[in-house]
Amino acid sequence: MNLFSKITLLLFCFMLALPVFAAKDPKQGAIKSRQGEMSIRAFNAGPLFAMAKGDMPYDEKKAQMMADNLKLMLDLKNGGAWMEGTSNKDYPDDTAALPKIWETWPKIADYGKDYAKAVQGVAADAGKGKDALATAVKEMGKACKSCHDEYRKKDE
Ligand code: HEC
Repeated sequence: MNLFSKITLLLFCFMLALPVFAAKDPKQGAIKSRQGEMSIRAFNAGPLFAMAKGDMPYDEKKAQMMADNLKLMLDLKNGGAWMEGTSNKDYPDDTAALPKIWETWPKIADYGKDYAKAVQGVAADAGKGKDALATAVKEMGKACKSCHDEYRKKDE
């Protein structure tokens, strides 16, 4: 690739990335950020659920890696992504986050704590065989679901 193509490619990548960084409305940026975090959770939790159910062969290394990713994410200080005025009443087209999150704030943090505890359990047991993984993953699934039941709009 010559220099010109490299620069063109770089500019093109920058153009693609720009809309995310240049989100005019910081609240929409916050919504995207927390949804992005949830997507990464789901991407890593998915195979763990599948292995626990037997839909995917148990793979110790892969399970531990996914579990470690989830654990690592607990260290994110991304609370700013839950800023006020970003419920589905404010942004009906963009978010499924119910106003109840802010009406009952900081109650949602209890659900976050349960989730964190469950993830610690998964990270501790993911490499100890399918049964140990399945037991730990069940707790995590409950933690995801109970928070969604309470604070996320149901799919229609
Ligand atoms: C403490 C509460 C809580 C926990 C725990 C939680 N979620 Fe969520 N999740 C939410 C809320 C609220 C939304 C809606 C966010 C929005 O649309 O702005 C959401 C949205 C999502 C979405 C949709 C993201 C998008 O692009 O719109 C996925 C996927 C998801 N969660 C997966 C998970 C998985 C998997 C777990 C567990 C491993 C989990 N969540 C744990 C509260 C939680």
